[in-house]
Amino acid sequence: MSATTPTRAGAAVRVAGLGVRLPDRVVTNDDLAKVMDTSDEWIRSRTGIRQRHVAAPGEATSDLAAAAARAALDDGGFEVADVAAIVVATTTPDHTVPGTAPLVAARLGSQAAAFDINAACSGFLYGLRLAAGMTATGDGAVLVIGAETLTRIVDPGDRSVAVLFGDGAGAVVLVPDDAASFGPFSLGADGTQPSMLWTAAGGTRRPFDAVVLEEGSHYLTMRGGDVYRNAVARMAQASREVLEQAGLKVSDVDLFIGHQANVRILDAVASRLGLAPERNHVSVDRHGNTSAASIPLALADARDQGRLHDGDTVLLAAFGAGLTWGAGLLSWKGAS
Ligand code: COA
Repeated sequence: MSATTPTRAGAAVRVAGLGVRLPDRVVTNDDLAKVMDTSDEWIRSRTGIRQRHVAAPGEATSDLAAAAARAALDDGGFEVADVAAIVVATTTPDHTVPGTAPLVAARLGSQAAAFDINAACSGFLYGLRLAAGMTATGDGAVLVIGAETLTRIVDPGDRSVAVLFGDGAGAVVLVPDDAASFGPFSLGADGTQPSMLWTAAGGTRRPFDAVVLEEGSHYLTMRGGDVYRNAVARMAQASREVLEQAGLKVSDVDLFIGHQANVRILDAVASRLGLAPERNHVSVDRHGNTSAASIPLALADARDQGRLHDGDTVLLAAFGAGLTWGAGLLSWKGAS
């Protein structure tokens, strides 16, 4: 640790409930190869993705979010009335107005504070940071949900993007706990190159109209190589920062849960950090890139596989459109 960096402790907060919802329909790479010029071999070798879940017609982000939230509450033995605030991280809201979180709250039967965060694929990590602060400073239990229906904003005919994404939701309930440690976090953003990963039209800069529809410029596009390089560099950098702030070494990390965009990105981050490969948890092979939902989905996947134990040091890291990025440390003392 450098002499100038004071050690920062995490907040006295723990994950006391964890739940997910994945849409029923599974689309394999071979299914995609039937409708576009791609192959299982290309998708697997470039991304590690084997399949993704796709929302049913009429199934929206709030539907997935509410189901994941309900599962997280049940997991921790909470009543809806126990929750002081509901944070939904999403980049695919049901509507531009209102936010998705109030809709989720209504589905749960709650009138607690409810608001959205859009930090793209980093949104869940941003939400955790905010919610950990709220919980630690007296708000009580906060529900943080990452939920997406990315398949709704990709051009189903654009093979360079359509094969990468999937739909899903994951949620955690954060509660105060003097014996627990959540953090430190390092978050960052650089909005100087938004077109690296964006929807060019359909917002207030260029509202939706017949020309936009004709061009298809409301769909998600990206410069894949630039995104790849930035994702690796930023996730590794933020991870190093939180380890340094906590006074920990990479060998102290029991499990790394990175944003699940691409196995090659996760492997490259792990390699840069010097993290043992077996500590790098992968669920993108089964979920695809679910943006803000990917970290809670991966966390639940790791727990299901018996990879989370009380006292484990878990390193979370994310990267997404914006650009946004971040990392955080979690001493697991949670729902098991
Ligand atoms: N199936 C088959 N071929 C495809 C394809 C697909 N689904 N998508 C693109 N190709 C073709 C391209 O047309 C191009 O062909 P050409 O060379 O004849 O023009 C070639 O494959 C491009 O290959 P390349 O760009 O070199 O692939 P890559 O190894 O860089 O991998 C990505 C591309 C998108 C997988 C990679 O850049 C990536 O993962 N980027 C990050 C994406 C991401 O995670 N975004 C979200 C972050 S939150």
